[in-house]
Parts: sequence; C-alpha cells; structure tokens
Amino acid sequence: MTQILLKNFEVEGLTTLKVYEKLGGYKSLKKAFSMKPEEVLNEVKNSGLRGRGGAGFPTGLKWSFLAKDSFPRYFACNADESEPGTCKDRILLEKNPHLLIEGLIVSSYACLIETGYIYFRGEFQDVADLMDEAIAEAYKKGYLGKNILGSGFNFDLYTHLGAGAYICGEESALLNSLTGMRGEPRSKPPFPAVQGLYDKPTVINNVETVCVVPWIVNEGSEAYKKLGTEKSTGTKLVSVSGHVNKPANVEIEMGTPVSKIIEMCGGMRNGNKLKAFIPGGSSVPMLGIEHIDVAYDYESLKEAGSMLGSGALIVMDETTNIVEATMRLAYFYMHESCGKCTPCREGTRWLYQMLGEVLNRRGSPETIKTLQDACDNMAMKTFCPLADAAVAPVVSSIDLFPEDYKSFFAEAAATAG
Ligand SMILES: Cc1cc2nc3c(=O)[nH]c(=O)nc-3n(C[C@H](O)[C@H](O)[C@H](O)COP(=O)(O)O)c2cc1C
Ligand code: SF4
Repeated sequence: MTQILLKNFEVEGLTTLKVYEKLGGYKSLKKAFSMKPEEVLNEVKNSGLRGRGGAGFPTGLKWSFLAKDSFPRYFACNADESEPGTCKDRILLEKNPHLLIEGLIVSSYACLIETGYIYFRGEFQDVADLMDEAIAEAYKKGYLGKNILGSGFNFDLYTHLGAGAYICGEESALLNSLTGMRGEPRSKPPFPAVQGLYDKPTVINNVETVCVVPWIVNEGSEAYKKLGTEKSTGTKLVSVSGHVNKPANVEIEMGTPVSKIIEMCGGMRNGNKLKAFIPGGSSVPMLGIEHIDVAYDYESLKEAGSMLGSGALIVMDETTNIVEATMRLAYFYMHESCGKCTPCREGTRWLYQMLGEVLNRRGSPETIKTLQDACDNMAMKTFCPLADAAVAPVVSSIDLFPEDYKSFFAEAAATAG
C-alpha cells in the first residue's frame, strides 16, 4: 500500500533535519513557492483531502472560507489528540516532527498566514520539547522566519501546551485556551475562518491533515485522488486498539475493509470472535460483527450507521462486557464535560450513574427507557458535539446488544427475589 505518512518511519534519525532533508524533506517548499498561494490552495482543494481531526471537512474548502482582506491571519494546528483510542498524531509528532513543520509552512503560504501555533494536549510535554528542537533547527536552516528560501514569505511557528482537557481539542475551546482563557467552546457563527484567534481569521487543522499537504504539493492532487475512493481520497492513519494481536497505527488506503485492517494487526486476540468495534474513536456509534467487511471510508461507515471520526478503531471480542465498556466511556465524557451547558453537564453524569446501576444488578428494563430518555434530551441540544459523542456509545450499545443489558436485569431480579 502507498505510504504517505508512515514512509521512512524506520529510518534512524528521522527526527533530525539532516536525515529528513536527505530523504527529500522540505522539497515541497520550493515547489509551493514557485506557485501562487491560491494555486497551492486549489491543489489541496482538488485533492479532495478532508480533515482528519474528526469532522472530515474538506480542507481546501475550509481554507477558502478565510475572511478576505483581513490580516493578520493565524494557523492553529490541533495536536490535542485526546479522543480515547486515538494515538496517530502522537507518532507523527514523535517520529517525524519536520513533516508537520513542512506541512505548516506550505499550508500557511497557501492561506497567506505568517504565524502558526501547534496546540498540544498537556500530557505531550515530551513531544512538545521534541518539536521545539525541530523548530529551532528549521529556523537555523532558514525554513522558518523571514524571507524563507528567498521567497519573500515569512512564517513564525510556536508551540503551546494545554492543561490536559479533552474539550480543548474542540476548535473554539482550543482558541480560547491558546489565549489563556477558560477552555470552553465558543458560540458559532462566527466561525474561526472569520473570527478566530485574537478575533482574526484562523485556520485550524489536525496534525495528520497538515502532514499530508507536502505530498499533495510534491506529487499533485491527481496522484492523491488516485488513492482511496472517489469521495474519501488518499490514505488514512488508523489507530487500532483493543482485542487484536498487535495493536498498532497502520496507514491504509481509504476504502480498505475493516476485516483487512484487523488482519494487518495480527487478527483477533486468541483467535476469538469479534463482537463489536468502534470505528472512529469513542465518540461514534459502535458496530457489530455484521459490519466486519465495511469499507473504512467516510461514506461507507456513515451508511453502516457510524462515522470515521478521528480514525481510531477499537476492537472488542466476544469476551467483552458491552455494558461495562459503555460505562467506561460514559465516565470519560462525564469527566471531560466542560460544564457550560446543562444537558451535557448533568446528562453525562446521569448516563454514568445509570450504567453503574445496571452493572451493579440494580437496573430493570425501566432503566433502559430512562437511559434512552436522557440520551434524547442530550443529543443535538448542547453547545458543542461533546454531548452527542457521549450519547453515541450508549444508544448504539442498547440497540446492538440488548441481551447484554437484559442479562444484568435477570440477575437483578433473581437477587431481589
Ligand atoms: C469534544 C471535541 C474534541 C475534539 N478533539 C480534537 C482533537 O483532539 N484533535 C483534532 O484534530 N480535532 C479535534 N476535534 C475536532 C476539531 O474541533 C476540529 O474540527 C479539527 O481540529 C479541524 O481539523 P481538520 O479539519 O483537519 O479535521 C474535536 C472536536 C470536539 C467536538
Ligand atoms: S456540550 Fe458539554 S463540553 Fe460542550 S459546551 Fe456543553 S457542557 Fe461543554
């Protein structure tokens, strides 16, 4: 399979500028600077690249929404990566920091941006330190700073660490946090492309999204479109975790069946049968074994009733207690709700507590109805999609595995009797 992101990962010293350059690193700068910024933007637009942070929004289109004639503009690269199961950005940052720097320079050139920030989750101190070293090397070599490679283009890049809150991965909360404000989502519109960082037009893109840009500039958008499917172009990094023999980050062409991805990770643990999988990080509905051959792309996963999300495939085998797995996810969302809106602040706690009731053999079919009612009162009724994310595993687990819930009710009834 074509490798765009994991290429050269085994080469020793890849984190250093010397080795990165030897392997063709920073080549896309020359090509981009020989083009007009809008030509680079159009190339990315034509490639069909969609944001890898979760929503899958077309990247070139997002860039074209930047408020015209409004400067300065900013680039905020989202390295918050806090979605359970997701660890694909971390390996890009750790193993190939110059790829992200190169991607940020070219992307910012296309968007007429002269200042960029990389926002890391608080726990990424070591990764941020590594990135600072790479940034220092890039400045020294003239890839960052004033008049880069004599192009007349200036670009400064800074790193920033959050304080370890999942909600700061949401783009508007990220911008608040970056300026020292409380990490809570902002009301939209205005969208960041119009009023973002310091109220100026801002592009926010995920690490993986940005890392693809040098390849598109070097090889061309037509070459990129040849990979993947018609509507989900290119390759995708998938973080595979759970009950597989070799949990790993794998790079696949969009459209690869989930069964094949599991095979790439050594198959199911202990030869067990698959029970369920969450295809796109904990915020998307789980799917059952009947979807094992679903193609891993935006459209097919949506049709199957879930989403590609952040690209984290969580695999659960037949030994999994689905109610317990769902409760763990509910705990995460309860812990990470920022508390700004009532349905999320209260609802996430209710979900966690009710799932606990079921697990502790104190539930009944009524509990399911109350759970569903709580979910109805949360989904699409809050300020940001965190509440929708909290609801997804609960609703899908009840739909797909009612027997798992019922077995606890039977035990509860027996104990009461
Ligand atoms: C609760 C929540 C958490 C999020 N966390 C992340 C994250 O850790 N990393 C990320 O890139 N996007 C995250 N997103 C999506 C961002 O809001 C935004 O859509 C994304 O960074 C845009 O980049 P892209 O267009 O390259 O995907 C999150 C969204 C929500 C609602
Ligand atoms: S939905 Fe939850 S996380 Fe999002 S703003 Fe409301 S309280 Fe905060």
